[in-house]
Amino acid sequence: MNWTHKDLLDIESLSIEEIRHIFQTSSRFIEINSRSIKKVPILRGKSVVLFFAEPSTRTKTSFDMAAKRLSADSFSLASKGSSLQKGESLKDTVLTLEAMKPDAIVMRHSLSGSAGFIARHLKCSVLNAGDGWHAHPTQALLDGFTLSRTWGDDFQGKTLLILGDIAHSRVARSDIKLFTRLGCRLRICAPRTLIPHDIRNWPVEVYHDLYEACREVDAVISLRLQLERQEAGLLPDIREYSVRFCLGQRHLETAAPGVKIMHPGPMNRGVEISSNLADSKDSLILDQVESGVAVRMALLYLYLARPKHEQEIPEV
Ligand code: CP
Repeated sequence: MNWTHKDLLDIESLSIEEIRHIFQTSSRFIEINSRSIKKVPILRGKSVVLFFAEPSTRTKTSFDMAAKRLSADSFSLASKGSSLQKGESLKDTVLTLEAMKPDAIVMRHSLSGSAGFIARHLKCSVLNAGDGWHAHPTQALLDGFTLSRTWGDDFQGKTLLILGDIAHSRVARSDIKLFTRLGCRLRICAPRTLIPHDIRNWPVEVYHDLYEACREVDAVISLRLQLERQEAGLLPDIREYSVRFCLGQRHLETAAPGVKIMHPGPMNRGVEISSNLADSKDSLILDQVESGVAVRMALLYLYLARPKHEQEIPEV
């Protein structure tokens, strides 16, 4: 496939064929990551800036590891310790970074739309590592890829439940777009205060009772309470939330056999998901992390390898 995109900002801009191509390419990198020597020379001479203006463990580390395993050089900038703290604007920050001639900037920022904003000003590729409530496309791709490793290519007719703080979640928005495109039926379950105001326009069934929501589902994605994005008063208290919405084994008695359990992390055990379930045999939470490195290797390869139409992953 001739990869023509400059930037990865959201799921909407990817066709179903492109999503499947990302999954196929990621499978190659799962194999490479299982070798004793995990480094391949595909992106030798390329450089990637990891600009994370919000905290991250999984996304930042896996992009860093992905770049290094492809032999690209990676450089990190956090807002703390950068000249953003001296009042430099986002636009001036990224123009300054681009003047150092990276091939891509991977950015996480609290402002929805910030990745699209910088992409319009930059010639290098921009990969969105999460912008406000808007999108987290690489998380959705790794979630889809993780399930494809269990289910194969056939997502048609599968029912997925996304549970928790939907209103403030960029993961929910990107996952819903991805899994709808793959042919899944989507449910969401949350307290009324954590359901987005424009929910009528979303292709989902809405539940407020977790037992009802889990009936016959094939996978559940539990989400973190995004307390840093919530205005006060949306929840009476965390304990009351966990009594009604903390996913436990008892909720899954009427789910489909072999129902898969996922969480993008970081998780609050005992608040969004019970510890036993997070560590159970049907939990894919650490598989998601493993998939994250492979998917981000696939994305860096597709967006940065040149000339795109001639590149094959070398057999080394
Ligand atoms: N899922 C996710 O984005 O995790 P981090 O915040 O640790 O990157």
